[in-house]
Amino acid sequence: MEIISSVMRRRSCREYTQAAVTDEQLRQLVAAGMQAPSARNERPWEFLVVCSEAGKQSLAQASPYAKMCRNAAAVIVVLANMERIAANSPWWVQDVSACTENILIRATELGLGAVWLGMYPRQDRMQAIREAFSLPERCVPFAAIPVGYPAKEAQYEDRFDETRIRWVREGKATV
Ligand SMILES: Cc1cc2nc3c(=O)[nH]c(=O)nc-3n(C[C@H](O)[C@H](O)[C@H](O)COP(=O)(O)O)c2cc1C
Repeated sequence: MEIISSVMRRRSCREYTQAAVTDEQLRQLVAAGMQAPSARNERPWEFLVVCSEAGKQSLAQASPYAKMCRNAAAVIVVLANMERIAANSPWWVQDVSACTENILIRATELGLGAVWLGMYPRQDRMQAIREAFSLPERCVPFAAIPVGYPAKEAQYEDRFDETRIRWVREGKATV
């Protein structure tokens, strides 16, 4: 039987069952995020692990596309702490993006459903999260990731497109 890796199987999951997700599972998701590569190994990420109904409600209202936060078992908010990066370093967005993707892949591996909800760079969404959780200005709410057991099975989709690849085997010409 062909085993398709979590990277290939990962899909956004926006509907969850009522089943509980344990603190240990949530810790494993965050741990995967912390394993991400980062420029200069600065690891600028911090996390809110939101399990309270009031907290999930606030996140559901922070963006017009975040309503599923209400029904998730928990929501992980990936934050970038600007005090953890060198002055004017431009790489932190890539750092926390890699972190966020790692969490999604690990969720797939654990049989959980999750979805990346974009917050940064929308100022209104970031401000709503800062206010709801009393976050200081240095903390940038980058993405929210609702997590729960999937209400329906994710559909594998093969997105491979040979036409997007230019093989460079000799010299530098690609056209
Ligand atoms: C930066 C970013 C922001 C996203 N924001 C949202 C969002 O606000 N709400 C949502 O439901 N999905 C959001 N998504 C998920 C995408 O809609 C989803 O990844 C895309 O449709 C591909 O589907 P798949 O994840 O199942 O492969 C976001 C994804 C990324 C990478």
